[in-house]
Amino acid sequence: MAVCGYCCSFVVIGYQINNHFNAYRMKPILIAANWKMHKTLSEGQELTSTLINWLRRQKTSELQIILLPSFIHLTAIHSLLASDLPLALGAQNCHDKASGAFTGEVSSAMLASAGVQYVLVGHSERRGVYQEDHEVLAAKVDAALAEGIRPIFCCGEPSHERTQHTHEAYIVKQLEKSLLHLSPAQLAQVIIAYEPVWAIGTGHIPDADAIAAMQKSIRAVIARRYTPSLAEDVRLLYGGSCNAQNVQSFLAIEGVDGVLVGNASVQAKDFLPLLEAVL
Ligand code: PGA
Repeated sequence: MAVCGYCCSFVVIGYQINNHFNAYRMKPILIAANWKMHKTLSEGQELTSTLINWLRRQKTSELQIILLPSFIHLTAIHSLLASDLPLALGAQNCHDKASGAFTGEVSSAMLASAGVQYVLVGHSERRGVYQEDHEVLAAKVDAALAEGIRPIFCCGEPSHERTQHTHEAYIVKQLEKSLLHLSPAQLAQVIIAYEPVWAIGTGHIPDADAIAAMQKSIRAVIARRYTPSLAEDVRLLYGGSCNAQNVQSFLAIEGVDGVLVGNASVQAKDFLPLLEAVL
């Protein structure tokens, strides 16, 4: 990593070269595609094949795409992937226990055995609709790491926290309660996605300064608790109403290493233009 002075963020041949803590960094841009509860098996396979063909044409290693289909399609999607492509498999959830009498649930060991490398933990829909609290999310993070799966830990404030200017403390608490018990080596495996709840699926997004400020706060918490170098190395994503039109503006923000995409990742007609906008 070459170290430089006070430069603004820009993109060169698809690599993001950002001024995090006054240092250049070069690493592939992460694009996580959260399909949520969309797509039948054949639709998921078709989208994956379309992506694979696109990646083969692009010959790019400048992106790392993580597909997050539903549990039931993981094995079939995994069988389409090829190790020479920057396309990995993730799950949208996992159980917090290793195994047991939990009808209808899926463990991290099961995910790992299906070729899963990443798992979403703490998405606002899991926190809100399924009432997953800080403690269960901490246990899910531990369960994933125990199986060698990298958690994509989502944090984000509801709109009233932002209007009351308590959003930063809200996010710090989410990190404190579910993530900061990890060892440095474990935390280095975690990807953190900042997704303001009010920005998810709404078309409303924070301005660039607000996103940059939050990314900086997240890194500052990690720097205080661990080390500045770990804080610099942790991968941070932005998520919430990201699409082909605005993705470049998110990636140009200091501290943003990639994006977590919902709606705009479900159809090739939306997702391919988003990827093209990144390159
Ligand atoms: P969105 O969803 O891109 O549709 O806002 C993002 C997410 O839920 O992770």
